[in-house]
Amino acid sequence: MQNIDWGSLPFGYYPTYYNVRCYYRNGAWGELEVSSETTINIHMGATCLHYGQEAFEGLKAHRGVDGKIRIFRLDENGKRLQSSCDGIVMPRFPLEKFEEAVIKCVKLNADFIPPFESGASLYLRPRIIGTGCRVGVKPADEYLFLVFATPVGPYFKGGFMANPYVITRKYDRSAPLGTGVYKVGGNYAASMRAHVEACHGGEYACEFYLDAKEKKFIDEAGAANFFGIKDNTYITPKSTSILPSITNKSLMQIAESLGMKVERRPIAEEELATLEEAGACGTAAVISPISRIDDPESGKSYTFGDGKPGPWSEKLYNKLRGIQTGSEPDEFGWNTLVEI
Ligand code: PLP
Ligand code: COI
Repeated sequence: MQNIDWGSLPFGYYPTYYNVRCYYRNGAWGELEVSSETTINIHMGATCLHYGQEAFEGLKAHRGVDGKIRIFRLDENGKRLQSSCDGIVMPRFPLEKFEEAVIKCVKLNADFIPPFESGASLYLRPRIIGTGCRVGVKPADEYLFLVFATPVGPYFKGGFMANPYVITRKYDRSAPLGTGVYKVGGNYAASMRAHVEACHGGEYACEFYLDAKEKKFIDEAGAANFFGIKDNTYITPKSTSILPSITNKSLMQIAESLGMKVERRPIAEEELATLEEAGACGTAAVISPISRIDDPESGKSYTFGDGKPGPWSEKLYNKLRGIQTGSEPDEFGWNTLVEI
């Protein structure tokens, strides 16, 4: 194992040994290739560079309490990448190849999987980019799949700590029938101005978007889904413009198994005032409890709890982390064990 100050790792890039690549040429995906290069050589007219034809994923490998390595919901991330490919007309990457590539990347970089006690994990970033040259707006004929690994700490300040968030009304991240349901770069490009302007360089952890049509319902944060809790019920938005978060899907199942009710439905902004707890959830965010959501443009502010993570959020977090790290049984069959 590498000698790294694992407990202080930010959510950023830390160089590792290898990445795994695969090229799509002449209508077919080739063999997986291992590379130690951190750069890629592509045509300057590649569709990913000017038309944003690219999709990516984010998933984690955890070193467990028992020393074993587990990748969380590998198949779900592979399926979502296929859905993103459909959404922006790229060839689907076969599921078995996706799983093989990610497992290979974890094994080759096993020295960088943080120890259990650190709370850090190995983040995997698979993506597919259009590499074929086009000047007119149409899909490329060549693509590159690439996955790299990097050890990461918490995405939001303090990890499992309550942070303030802010609603942005000035900008939309995605349209009701747009690409919000796909994990494509364009959604993140569309969020950067809102993030920089609304978050004031760190005063808020992240910006929340309202639905683009009516500006009435909570959609999601720039990098995570939203959930609220009241009356022993886990409530999360149903919307055609948000990413179907795999963490959120898992939390809904965990919530039910803990005896909570689960509701997936539109959440009007005013309903925030009635919630007992609120959180942002995602692979990078895990569960990031929310202390307050400000809506500066309407002058409203919503506070949750006493500035500490609420009891249900804590239970959900412990169960999720427990399953990911092997201290709780994998009752839903979510982990892929990796033999090093
Ligand atoms: N929403 C957005 C916009 C995201 O970028 C992410 C991160 O992947 C999520 C939600 C959470 O999704 P998941 O739990 O699958 O990581
Ligand atoms: C993730 O949670 O994996 C994400 O991709 C969110 C963000 C870092 C873009």
